[in-house]
Amino acid sequence: MNLKGKTAIVTGASSGIGAEFSKILTESGVKVYGLARSEEKLNSVKEHLGTSFVPVKMDVTQYEDVEKWVEETFDDEHQPEILVNNAGLGYFADVDELSLEQWHTMLDVNLSGVFYLTRLITPLMKENEAACHIVNIASVAGLMGNPQISGYNATKFGLRGFSEALFKELRYDGIKVTCFFPGSIATSFFDSIDAVQLHPNMMQPVDIAKTLKYVLETPDNFLINEVTMRPLNPKPPAD
Ligand SMILES: NC(=O)c1ccc[n+]([C@@H]2O[C@H](COP(=O)([O-])OP(=O)(O)OC[C@H]3O[C@@H](n4cnc5c(N)ncnc54)[C@H](OP(=O)(O)O)[C@@H]3O)[C@@H](O)[C@H]2O)c1
Repeated sequence: MNLKGKTAIVTGASSGIGAEFSKILTESGVKVYGLARSEEKLNSVKEHLGTSFVPVKMDVTQYEDVEKWVEETFDDEHQPEILVNNAGLGYFADVDELSLEQWHTMLDVNLSGVFYLTRLITPLMKENEAACHIVNIASVAGLMGNPQISGYNATKFGLRGFSEALFKELRYDGIKVTCFFPGSIATSFFDSIDAVQLHPNMMQPVDIAKTLKYVLETPDNFLINEVTMRPLNPKPPAD
C-alpha cells in the first residue's frame, strides 16, 4: 500500500505504541483518527502531530458510541483503508486473586473492543476499491501462557484466533489482516504492574511503529499475517 493520502483508525492512540503508530502514519501522509478515552492525552498527541491527527474521545467497549461515530464519520466518499486495533490493557495476578472486574475489563477492551470496530469497519473496507489492512496488536502473551497473566493470556490467545480467522475470511475481499505479537515494550502499560519496571533493554515504541509501516507498505498481493517481536536480550542491564 502506498500510504500517502490514506485514512487510518488507530485505537489506543493516546499513549504508548498507539501514539507512535499515529506519528509514523501522519509523517507518511496518512490522516489518522486516534481513538482513546483520555481527551487530554489525545490533544497532547495532536499538538505534536498536527491536523492530520484527529483525536476521537471514545471508549472502544461502548458499541453504540462506536457505531454512531463510524456512521457520522465515514461515507461512500470517505472510507478508512487502515484499522489498527491497538487499545488494550493487562492485569497481572494469580488466578484466585484476579477480580471479576479485572477479568471482564480485559475481555471487554482486548477482545470485544476489537470485534466491535472490526465488525463496523469491515463493510466499508469491502466496498473500498483500494487495498485495505487491519492490524491487531496481540502480544507474545498470545503465543505462550505464563503464571500471573492467565486472564491477559486468554484475551491475547483469543485475539490470535480472531486474527487468523479474519485473515482467511477477508483475503478475497482484498483486505489484509496482520497480528503483531510483541514482547516487552517501554510504555505506560506497566505503570500499574509493580512486578515489572521499565528498563533500557525493553523494545522502544518507535521500533514497533517502523515494523507497522513496513508491513503496511508491502505489495498488495503480499501478506505478512503474523509478526513476533522481541528484545534480543530481554534482561535489565546490570548496574
Ligand atoms: N507494552 C508492552 O510491553 C506490550 C507488549 C505486547 C503487547 N502490548 C499491547 O500493546 C497495546 C498498546 O499498549 P501500550 O504498551 O502502548 O500501553 P499504553 O501506553 O498503556 O496504551 C494503552 C492504550 O489503550 C487505550 N485504552 C485502554 N482502554 C481503552 C478503552 N476502553 N477504549 C479506548 N482506548 C483504551 C489507552 O488510552 P486511554 O487510557 O486514554 O483510553 C492507551 O492509549 C495493548 O493492546 C497491549 O496489550 C503491549
